[in-house]
Amino acid sequence: MTHHHHHGSPPLRGRWSSRLGFIMAAAGSAVGLGNIWKFPYITGMHGGGAFVLFYLFCIAVIGVPLMVAEMIIGRHTRKGPVGAFRRLKGGFWGAVGWLGVCAGFVILSYYSVVAGWTVSYLWLALQGTFSQQYTQQVPQLFTGLLSSDANQLFWQALFMLATVLIVIGGVKKGLERANRILMPTLFLILVGLAGFGLFSPGGSQALEFLFSPDWSKLDQSAMLEALGHAFFSLSLGMGAILTYGSYADEETNIPKVAITVSAMDTLVALLSGLAIFPIVFAYGMAPAAGPGLVFKTLPILFSQMPGGSIIAILFFLLLVFAALTSAISLLEVVVAYYCDEWKWDRRRATLVMGLVIFAIGVPSALSNHLLKDWQLIGERNFLDSVDFIATNYLLPLGGLLITLFAGWVLTPSVAKAELAKGAAVSWFYPLWCFLIRYVSPVLVALVLLNKVGLF
Ligand code: PHE
Repeated sequence: MTHHHHHGSPPLRGRWSSRLGFIMAAAGSAVGLGNIWKFPYITGMHGGGAFVLFYLFCIAVIGVPLMVAEMIIGRHTRKGPVGAFRRLKGGFWGAVGWLGVCAGFVILSYYSVVAGWTVSYLWLALQGTFSQQYTQQVPQLFTGLLSSDANQLFWQALFMLATVLIVIGGVKKGLERANRILMPTLFLILVGLAGFGLFSPGGSQALEFLFSPDWSKLDQSAMLEALGHAFFSLSLGMGAILTYGSYADEETNIPKVAITVSAMDTLVALLSGLAIFPIVFAYGMAPAAGPGLVFKTLPILFSQMPGGSIIAILFFLLLVFAALTSAISLLEVVVAYYCDEWKWDRRRATLVMGLVIFAIGVPSALSNHLLKDWQLIGERNFLDSVDFIATNYLLPLGGLLITLFAGWVLTPSVAKAELAKGAAVSWFYPLWCFLIRYVSPVLVALVLLNKVGLF
């Protein structure tokens, strides 16, 4: 990010160094553990096809319009969520920004624990653990990791430290540049893994599981999970994309960016499903194995494919990087709030909040061993419960409120003007208006209320 001041933008606020920089940053925020760790495991838990198709529907009909709305609000106000809603309307709407900042704290607290698992797998890969002679041991590695509280705390702390250093250092410019190389590489590796999976014994069963719907499996919980995950995966409903939009150039074509980012995000999730499920079926594992699914499946593939130990290193390196680019966008929402509204300096806000978030995450890091009997929601341990609350309630609620705000409170001429910038096409505005006013809020409200049992 650089600090040019043009078009009368508020001085000293960062800007992406290029339009491609904005797309890459938004895609960096969206593509992360949600796509590679979470999408396959929740798809497995909810029975496959019907869940996947409903998820795709949520992305297209609710996710894309909401992403456009967040970008419009961010670029128009040039503020983070709290400042943005306060400036545009204030009163009750200020609470929407607050909800977003809270979600940032909560999500990053456990996100960093799961990211820590990926760092520890990178470490294992570097030691050559995923080579042929160890195939037998591979499945036990995950259980081994989870049974050590100290290890999980260590990797969580290391990951948070890296996130804090990047957010302080304003190494964003370097990060933008690195993103440009690393994201396409991650994509290529996933294409390779998915290809390998599809032509291996479990391939056709995986395709069938992922894409042929059994609608009887799509109950209220599955619908809410799919909707919530659409928000989580696209980084929506809490102001992360809004904050990134506040650094976007006046010439950026918002609909184009939103559609590109959503498409990339969706493709990465589907590819990771195509890489993971063939192994699940070929080895007779349970699709509903839960949060350990990626960690238990892909290493088997690595230990058996030619060049697998190198590919394992590359894959986990890129996965750590994908998690980092998402984590910095979560921390950025919190930091932008303390900088914009409390006038803290960036360094102090980042250090203090990084530490607070680490502390909130400690019970999540301990949730698999020391605190494994502490179940908050159903049979879920602490980490899974917090994830459940954030994804199924905080984000859909935040998303619903932002949608209502953009459709009914924001002055239409503001949205129209934002959408007209940067060679936008004329048919987009009426379509967006219709979706954001009538379709998205009704659908989100229906899914939420249905789950809560209000009708
Ligand atoms: N979208 C990120 C992922 O899929 C997680 C995230 C959620 C990031 C909300 C920012 C805000 O991994």
